[in-house]
Amino acid sequence: MDWGLQNRIAGIINPQNNRALMLAVDHGYFLGPTEKLENPTKVIAPLLKYCDSLMLTRGVQRACVPAATRTPMVLRVSGGSSIIGEDLSQEDITVSIQDALRLNASALAMSIFVGSKYEHQTIVNLGKLVGDAQQYGIPVLAVTAVGKELGKDARYLSLACRIAAEQGAHIVKTYYCENFEKVADSCPVPIIVAGGKKIPERDALELTYNSIKGGAVGVDMGRNIWQSEHPVAMIRAVRSIVHGNSDVERAYEMYKKLSSERPGKRPGAKPNIPRPIPNTPDPGNPRPEINTGSTSAGSPPDTI
Ligand code: R5P
Repeated sequence: MDWGLQNRIAGIINPQNNRALMLAVDHGYFLGPTEKLENPTKVIAPLLKYCDSLMLTRGVQRACVPAATRTPMVLRVSGGSSIIGEDLSQEDITVSIQDALRLNASALAMSIFVGSKYEHQTIVNLGKLVGDAQQYGIPVLAVTAVGKELGKDARYLSLACRIAAEQGAHIVKTYYCENFEKVADSCPVPIIVAGGKKIPERDALELTYNSIKGGAVGVDMGRNIWQSEHPVAMIRAVRSIVHGNSDVERAYEMYKKLSSERPGKRPGAKPNIPRPIPNTPDPGNPRPEINTGSTSAGSPPDTI
C-alpha cells in the first residue's frame, strides 16, 4: 500500500490498537438542520478533541471547523437527494478530487444503496471514486445505506459490505445487527459501525461494545453523541470503550459521572478526569487541539 494512503488510514484507524472513533456530523447533506445539529460549529467544537476523525461535508468543514485542527477529516463526497425528495438513493458524486485535496481530506465517503432503484449508479460511482482517489493516495469509505425498503439484517448487510469492499473501498461503514460477526467476517476490509437513531445512552454504549466485539474497528457515531443531553460525557464514554477497553458498565458509569459534573462551578476547581485504564491508550485524554482563540476548539469549556 502506498505511503500516503497508509498514512491517511492510520489517522482514521489507530494502527496501535486497530480502533477508530469517528464523529459523524454529515447528516445535513440530505436532512438539512436536523435536531441538535442546527449549529454545527457549536456542536463540533467541544467534541473535536475526543474523536479520531470527523465525518462531514465540505460546506460544514469550511464554515464550521477551524483550519488549525489536527483532527483528520473524512469528507462526504456524495449527495443529490433530500429527505423530502422522491428517492434518497439517487446520489451522485458532488465533490471533485481537487477540492478534496484542497480540504486536505484524509478519506472520501460516499453511500451505496444496494437493492434500491439507484443501486447500479451508486455502485458504479463507488468504483470510479476509488479509481480516482487511489491516484492521489486517498482512501475511500463506503457507507452501506439502509432505508425503509432496504434490510438491516446480517444477510443484507453482508451483501452490501462485501460489494463495497469488492469495488475497492478501503473502509466500510455499516450498521450493527444480530449475527454481526458474519458481516465482519465476510468483509475483507475494516468495518466501522454507524450509531443510527438516538437510543438511550446505555444502549448506544452497548452497541459500541458489541460492534467491536463482533469485529468492527470502531464506530462512526453521530446522533447518539450530539443528540444526547450530555454530548461530551457521551463521546468520552464511547471513547473509553473504543480506546480504553471499558466494558458497558464502566463506560456507562463514566457517562453518568461526567454528566453530573459541573466544571467551573467552583472557581479554580480541577476538572474531574477519570483515571486512565492501565496499559491502554489514555481514553480520556486524546489529542490536544490547537487553541485557535475561537469559541472552543482548544480547551472547550464543557457545558456539562
Ligand atoms: C448518514 O447520514 C451519515 O452517513 C451518518 O454519518 C451516519 O448515519 C452515522 O451517523 P449516526 O450515528 O447518527 O447514524
